[in-house]
Amino acid sequence: MNDTSDVIAGKSSNTVWHEATITRPRREQRNGHKGAIIWLTGLSGSGKSTLAHALEDRLFAMGCNTYVCDGDNIRHGLCGDLGFSPQDRVENIRRIGEVVKLFMDAGVIAMTAFISPYRADRDRARKLVAPGDFIEVYCECAIDVCEQRDAKGLYRRARAGEIKEFTGISAPYEEPENPELRINSGTEPVASCVQRIIDHLVAQGVVPA
Ligand code: ADX
Repeated sequence: MNDTSDVIAGKSSNTVWHEATITRPRREQRNGHKGAIIWLTGLSGSGKSTLAHALEDRLFAMGCNTYVCDGDNIRHGLCGDLGFSPQDRVENIRRIGEVVKLFMDAGVIAMTAFISPYRADRDRARKLVAPGDFIEVYCECAIDVCEQRDAKGLYRRARAGEIKEFTGISAPYEEPENPELRINSGTEPVASCVQRIIDHLVAQGVVPA
């Protein structure tokens, strides 16, 4: 049920694209770094939000323009009309893909912390931007570690049958096949996870050395 072609085709006929004079390269030149999308994916409790915010702290301290889109927060607003059915998750990720594309166009290093359980949805978000702009980071963490952490008490409730379609318990998670980075967020300290992402950003020329 990952088909969103009716949504993507759109209903906005008779619209004309307007080219900006303040372009992404001009913004990037002024910022001193490139815009990028750092797409964290992994189970609930795998450490995506913790890592995204720790990474943002580092980048912000380096003088970068940054923003974190966090699954739980975005579901309070932009995606507050969506639940956790397969169709709603597809739409959730479709919207976020479009939003972070705008952030990147604004010259920002945008980080996302969504489970984003379907490979096809992550790949669709990747294809919205040019090669190299989308950096997929798999926050790999065994489900029993996520379940032991259970910071929000949701695994316990999912096991008790109180939450349906819970990722990893009663809904699927499709692991990335070729992420730019694979981080063992179950065992590796946050600071070293952050450093690995920073090293990648430097190597790719997103941020200066
Ligand atoms: S996604 O699957 O559409 O990418 P998203 O990252 O926005 O999910 O939201 C996941 C967060 O919602 C989890 O971290 C958890 O706090 C909460 N949540 C509530 N119900 C569920 C559920 N059924 N499955 C997974 N996460 C859920």
